[in-house]
Amino acid sequence: MKRNKIVAGNWKMHFGPKEAAEFAQSLRNNLLDTHGVSVILCPPFLALKTVFDTVNGSEIKVGAQNMHWAEAGAFTGEITGAMIRETGTEYVILGHSERRHVFGESDEWINKKVHRSLKSGLIPIFCVGEKIEEREAEKTEQVIAKQLRVGLKGLSEADMETVIIAYEPVWAIGTGLTASPEQAAAVHQFIRGAIKTLFNSDVAESTWLLYGGSVKPENTIGLLSNKDIDGALVGGASMQLESFKGIIDEAGAIE
Ligand code: PGA
Repeated sequence: MKRNKIVAGNWKMHFGPKEAAEFAQSLRNNLLDTHGVSVILCPPFLALKTVFDTVNGSEIKVGAQNMHWAEAGAFTGEITGAMIRETGTEYVILGHSERRHVFGESDEWINKKVHRSLKSGLIPIFCVGEKIEEREAEKTEQVIAKQLRVGLKGLSEADMETVIIAYEPVWAIGTGLTASPEQAAAVHQFIRGAIKTLFNSDVAESTWLLYGGSVKPENTIGLLSNKDIDGALVGGASMQLESFKGIIDEAGAIE
């Protein structure tokens, strides 16, 4: 099945409201044609509103990087899906490896967040990926199968129409190491198979699967030309206009 590509930029803990709005404005000015690529900017919470206001009316969309699973409550320092949605934001990254491994988020928490994001009217970009020692121990598939099984538990086939999955090998994030197109394609194929088992083949075929981990303009075509790789979740290279636009242009050039 042919899907248009998605390129999402995860700015992590960089860019306050002013710098984020300036970046979004220059991207908007420079991105006259996205060639059918869906572009999503994911700034820190504080910059969601100004980035949304800056790109509103263009083809650029906005995503958050995390949220809490509860509807509201005594959770000091946390943010609800509804608050995020209120800023105009449409997407939310959930289960990013930094949330899992630096902040100790479990598959069960992430599952609750996926459910709440859908109830809040957000599109989750649900991340999975193995650590280097898991890959070396040949446990990649086992690890990802569990992340998918628990993370997507209780979702209906209809819910899955709104879920985007990102495969991000932990060893390739922010390290300059990238999975080769063959390594990435093999895991993407595995993920489609796992979704088929958990849901059905229509869901497996129609779900967007992004790759993330040191994506740059130079490796975009190699990775995204694969029929099972529907786009990129970009960290470092999304924080420079030239490289982020380069990735979008390369993704747009793929037939
Ligand atoms: P990177 O980050 O592109 O800097 O490797 C990707 C990510 O964390 O989503």
